[in-house]
Amino acid sequence: MKKFLYIIIACLIAVITFTLLFIKTGESNMTNNKVLVAYFSATGNTKTIAEKLANEIGADLFEIKPAQIYTDDDLNWQNDKSRSSVEMADRNSRPEIASKIDDFAQYKTVFIGFPIWWGREPSIIDTFMESYDFAGKTIIPFATSGSSDIGNSGEIIQSLVPNATVLYGKRFSTSVSDTELKNWAIEQM
Ligand SMILES: Cc1cc2nc3c(=O)[nH]c(=O)nc-3n(C[C@H](O)[C@H](O)[C@H](O)COP(=O)(O)O)c2cc1C
Repeated sequence: MKKFLYIIIACLIAVITFTLLFIKTGESNMTNNKVLVAYFSATGNTKTIAEKLANEIGADLFEIKPAQIYTDDDLNWQNDKSRSSVEMADRNSRPEIASKIDDFAQYKTVFIGFPIWWGREPSIIDTFMESYDFAGKTIIPFATSGSSDIGNSGEIIQSLVPNATVLYGKRFSTSVSDTELKNWAIEQM
């Protein structure tokens, strides 16, 4: 009888241990599997799309805010001495970002939004890419622009984070519908 009781207790302990282990593993998988929408927007177009996207797919949202905000003069592409023209002409330019994401490791998929500047991602996106460990993560660029396509922004981003997988991405018009954004995002993930 005693022996039988010992066996029952041992079985119960084993079941409880395995259940706890299973719950723990599930938790850690979930916490490293989150989706982030990070974006830079100088005049609000990309911000609108980023907010819609994060809302549609239930992702966290992070604004890549420059330490020094871009003024209208800074954004004047017709002046080759303006801040944006000078930065974009220098591939090594890395404008400072105002704040950092605390627990970046929790994200597995990162959508990165930006306006197209001179046919590619603004230099502050390059700063962002070099500020975190993207190894093993999937990066999905998206952009707004006057008319240019997303071009080789994804390729440039990939060269900055060789241990991540960077998809081609997509340029959106500001009138893109919530459904179109959501369907595109789901296809990518
Ligand atoms: C410095 C600068 C360069 C730009 N270069 C391009 C370009 O090469 N092609 C294009 O279609 N639009 C270009 N644009 C327009 C922006 O991509 C477009 O207005 C974008 O939607 C702005 O996004 P935002 O409001 O999120 O900053 C440029 C804008 C600026 C300020």
